[in-house]
Amino acid sequence: MRILGIETSCDETGVAIYDNEKGLLAHQLYSQVSLHADYGGVVPELASRDHVKKTIPLIKATLLEANLTAKDIDGVAYTAGPGLVGALLVGASIGRALAYAWGVPAVAVHHMEGHLLAPMLEAQPPAFPFVALLVSGGHSLLVEVRGIGQYGILGESVDDAAGEAFDKTAKLMGIDYPGGPLLSQLAEKGDSKRFTFPRPMTDRPGLDFSFSGLKTFTANTLKASESDPQTRADIARAFEDAVVDTLAIKCKRALKQTGMKRLVVAGGVSANRHLRLKLSALADSLGAEVFYPRTEFCTDNGAMIAYAGMQHLLKGETQGLGVKVFPRWPMDEIKAC
Ligand code: KG4
Ligand code: ZN
Repeated sequence: MRILGIETSCDETGVAIYDNEKGLLAHQLYSQVSLHADYGGVVPELASRDHVKKTIPLIKATLLEANLTAKDIDGVAYTAGPGLVGALLVGASIGRALAYAWGVPAVAVHHMEGHLLAPMLEAQPPAFPFVALLVSGGHSLLVEVRGIGQYGILGESVDDAAGEAFDKTAKLMGIDYPGGPLLSQLAEKGDSKRFTFPRPMTDRPGLDFSFSGLKTFTANTLKASESDPQTRADIARAFEDAVVDTLAIKCKRALKQTGMKRLVVAGGVSANRHLRLKLSALADSLGAEVFYPRTEFCTDNGAMIAYAGMQHLLKGETQGLGVKVFPRWPMDEIKAC
């Protein structure tokens, strides 16, 4: 069986075709980064309009890449939430309409479930159960995953998500959008011994995160320091080290608490090089294994939506004729749509 997956929840249009026997057949991605760059962040209305322009051409390009036509598609999956409402509506309307026109089932996918399952597209996918650290622009979650659809939230951010903290801190350092990856590039040149930032909420039990204080800490450090390039890189490094260490401390706790030996790390921030180094070292020290998506599937993409959609299609979990999207959609309520 083959499924077409469509992702339009934020500033990337992603389309892919996944075959449950042959794996990923094709995927295409269009990033809106240059569209939003002048505004320093995602402008929701511009995002929606651009998805309207790009989604259908990308679907055509993906079919062409896979050397398939509409007749070869057995289902259409689309991101139904969480995300920007207008952007979600574009992918959901197109996905639902195509499924109707092609006479195949439609599957509504939770964006974070897509991220969570992205490492399943790799040659050596993790077996269930595992602990997942999901770190994106909108969410920071630790999830106990027992199987497809069996997600128990162990901890989450009480304020900014990890990616959001990267982006907001980058902005106050005068780094252009998209801040996270550029801040981490600057941090590569930084000296990790020069400044030490706090590791929020690690001095008490629990698996929740709080990253908004690190932004203020960065602002205060910037004010109190010279503004030469090396100092800026050192501050970026101190911020990144604080986020990475905090995430690693909570992952260690989550693995100990659940007794699990497999850790999956996904979402945009999982592309971060220092985070990967730190979590790989942690896993080694605990005799555990860590799994990541390939870098291009850490951030938003259609492949993860096609894969997650296929798992639901195989279980017969499909949509009625209405087009529904869920800008806010807790992960433990995935069945609720
Ligand atoms: O998963 P994603 O593409 O979109 C959401 O679902 O939010 O994640 C985007 C987030 C942004 O906040 C971006 O700054 C962050 O992931 N990000 C990074 C890196 N690459 C992307 N943060 C830190 N280091 C990176 N290398
Ligand atoms: Zn995402």
